[in-house]
Amino acid sequence: MWDPSQYLRYADERARPFAELLNRVDAENPRRVVDVGCGPGHLTARLRERWPDAEVEALDSSPDMVAAARKLGVDARVQDVREWLPPADADVVVCNAVLQWVPGHEKLLPRWAEAMPSGGWLAVQVPGHQKSPSHQLIGEFIGDPQWGLGGIDQVRDVLDPVGYAELLEDAGCTVDAWETTYLQRLTGRDAVLEWLEGTTLRPIRAALNEQRWAEFREQLGARLRDAYPMREDGTTWFPFRRVFFVARVG
Ligand SMILES: C[S@@+](CC[C@H](N)C(=O)[O-])C[C@H]1O[C@@H](n2cnc3c(N)ncnc32)[C@H](O)[C@@H]1O
Repeated sequence: MWDPSQYLRYADERARPFAELLNRVDAENPRRVVDVGCGPGHLTARLRERWPDAEVEALDSSPDMVAAARKLGVDARVQDVREWLPPADADVVVCNAVLQWVPGHEKLLPRWAEAMPSGGWLAVQVPGHQKSPSHQLIGEFIGDPQWGLGGIDQVRDVLDPVGYAELLEDAGCTVDAWETTYLQRLTGRDAVLEWLEGTTLRPIRAALNEQRWAEFREQLGARLRDAYPMREDGTTWFPFRRVFFVARVG
């Protein structure tokens, strides 16, 4: 289950990549703008601010997230991205921090580009930190049979910017792709653990009972504190790599 309030704890840090992604979308008067995997909808609201004359709609597979988005007045519905195709007037499609949860998403992207109108903009951002110490540690814990997490739904590998650029250029788009590592300044003894609880650790928490989750949390927290030492002022640096691409449909 996605928890809108836990996710929104770091709303500012999560909003910055969204803004930087949107900066590279040059659509002037889009008819329809779709936020795919909208989460709690606070960023969808920014799409409405930027394109007030467009039909702005949103979808997400989590009913809790969709309910939170609707409370903000977002036209959101429950739908899985794997069963969605852009409507023919979708001049802008935004998908921010979603496709890392969707195995095989590389197959979806050319299909989306094909369904979009000529001149449309497909803007995507995915976290690309599978090789970071935090995700290596989580992988190590998942692989440890004592936790019984063999079948867990975990964040998958994403492509590098070149991989997405080639995929979408082959589908007839003109692509602008890049990556950024943000150095996030987090606060508190278990800062990195708490950040991860809002996203990556969610399926693990759901798979364990209260007691096992408390043990998992304690043990992972100790390893994360070693990997990301807290500074004297109580803050912790957490480098976070993200991959971006904006495809202009040909
Ligand atoms: C990290 S949040 C990002 C939310 C929002 N786009 C943002 O940038 O704040 C990931 C979202 O992807 C949604 N999601 C994950 N898998 C999905 C799928 N297969 N179809 C639709 N939404 C999905 C989750 O429910 C969650 O709201």
